[in-house]
Amino acid sequence: MASEKVQKLRYLQQQSKLGGGEEAIQRQHERGKLTARERIAKLLDEGSFQELDAFVTHKSTAFGLDERVYLGDGVVTGYGTIHGRLVYVFAQDFTVLGGSLGPAHAAKILKVQELAMKTGAPLIGLNDSGGARIQEGVLSLGGYGDIFTNNVLASGVIPQISVIMGPCAGGAVYSPALTDFTFMVQGTSHMFITGPEVIKSVMHEEVTFEELGGAETHNKISGVAQFMAEDEEKCLDMVRRLLTYLPQNNMEDPPYEASKDDPTRADEALDAIIPENPNEPYDVKEVIKRVVDLGSFFEVHAHFAPNVVVGFARLDGMVVGVVANQPNVLAGALDINASTKAARFVRTCDAFNIPLVTFVDVPGFLPGTAQEHGGIIRHGAKLIYAYCEATVPKLAVVMRKAYGGAYIVMSSKHVRSDFNVAWPTAEIAVMGPEGAVSIIYRRELSNAADPEALRAQFVAEYREQFANPYFAASYGYLDAVIEPSQTRAVLINALQMLQNKRQSNPPKKHGNMPL
Ligand code: HXC
Repeated sequence: MASEKVQKLRYLQQQSKLGGGEEAIQRQHERGKLTARERIAKLLDEGSFQELDAFVTHKSTAFGLDERVYLGDGVVTGYGTIHGRLVYVFAQDFTVLGGSLGPAHAAKILKVQELAMKTGAPLIGLNDSGGARIQEGVLSLGGYGDIFTNNVLASGVIPQISVIMGPCAGGAVYSPALTDFTFMVQGTSHMFITGPEVIKSVMHEEVTFEELGGAETHNKISGVAQFMAEDEEKCLDMVRRLLTYLPQNNMEDPPYEASKDDPTRADEALDAIIPENPNEPYDVKEVIKRVVDLGSFFEVHAHFAPNVVVGFARLDGMVVGVVANQPNVLAGALDINASTKAARFVRTCDAFNIPLVTFVDVPGFLPGTAQEHGGIIRHGAKLIYAYCEATVPKLAVVMRKAYGGAYIVMSSKHVRSDFNVAWPTAEIAVMGPEGAVSIIYRRELSNAADPEALRAQFVAEYREQFANPYFAASYGYLDAVIEPSQTRAVLINALQMLQNKRQSNPPKKHGNMPL
């Protein structure tokens, strides 16, 4: 029989586990949501969770809060393992005062943030909260501010992952926005600065929670979230998978996992994947999947700016970050969203020592007033900045078009890429043949008796001169021209060659990235 004191401990532990009580838990389930503890149990390796601060309570008496004291104060925090590797976690408990955040709740999050930084392990936040706890006033705001500061200090040091599993409103959205990856669940998670009611009264706009800030909105339109899952269980599985590609911190390499796929596997289908007609699209994901270790491609930001594809994969077990133009969408042109999406991914990989492999088929930056007025100059510059700054091994494969500024930015030698190859179908030039001929032969074409025939002749000449990889190769701008079927073997070999690459940038406080 346990002593009275042990029995009291057990009682308090049980109380703390009840959160807001049975009824509130039932309401949570009826909404199609798991509780904070159920989520942690699904996220972490079985039995690995060690809770911290289960007995923390708020100290407020205002607005009747003294009558509403819950052990743990609406957030479950602690550490455990995922695939045997240490992670820290906090999970807001909507059953306690709507998961709202006051100073005690915030202090618990700050504690796991600081432990994660000190010990160099990822931090995963499961967000389900009405935001700043209104009754605790500015102390709640201060709590958020402190969390933001830790988010920024931890940025680029440890992976920070945010999972939105309920409301995430007001300034609370900025903590996820400061982390590396944001996951959302379809139908039950929402992020917004101001809700539909405020929007209606201030802007006279009618909008639903889902349209305003649901998973689809933030994955497809705003780009705020990188991942979307059908339900909470699938969402947590995706988080577990993401971690298999990330190192514990910026001082470690990403985890190597022995591959069953032959590193020299040739893929004959790649020799014929580029269509005869240079304007015909194809799916670059098909190329990626054929080159990387079978089944290893894990796409990031899949629903946003699909004209560029980014994601993690493995080459002979080594983690790489893949960036690829997608000819199937907007002919693979770089627009504002594609530029910021790819720039963000390049910087994420560089921060966490993940080599970059870039697949190039890009006709240029997307023209038009919408793009120019939207700031394509400013946003495109982010991608250039990211590639130039990155010091991880950089490899590139030019599959077809690499025109103009887009040639330079997509991991060319001029942005310090280490290993650049092209397929024989590559066309590397200032612009495509049609556009180039219209400019450099304008006078000849306007005076010609048969301008169409002359144009065809000039286009053929230009194509002969520039629409191939050999001109660039003759200057060493390409390291090799390879048969497409050999791409996997060539990349794996080069990645091994670059394993000990060491490169640093000039000392500075920090660069001034165009934002
Ligand atoms: C205190 C809160 C709360 C909050 C919800 N609750 N939000 N308590 N502070 N911010 C409480 C409710 O009073 C209720 O308590 C319980 O949580 C569940 O809330 P319901 O409204 O019944 O649930 P639901 O209908 O599902 O609606 C959820 C909601 C809504 C959409 C989140 O509660 C809501 O709009 N809350 C306010 C959101 C908001 O504007 N937050 C402030 C954002 S500003 P009972 O008594 O029933 O248990 C902000 C600033 C951060 O966060 C700044 C950082 C710099």
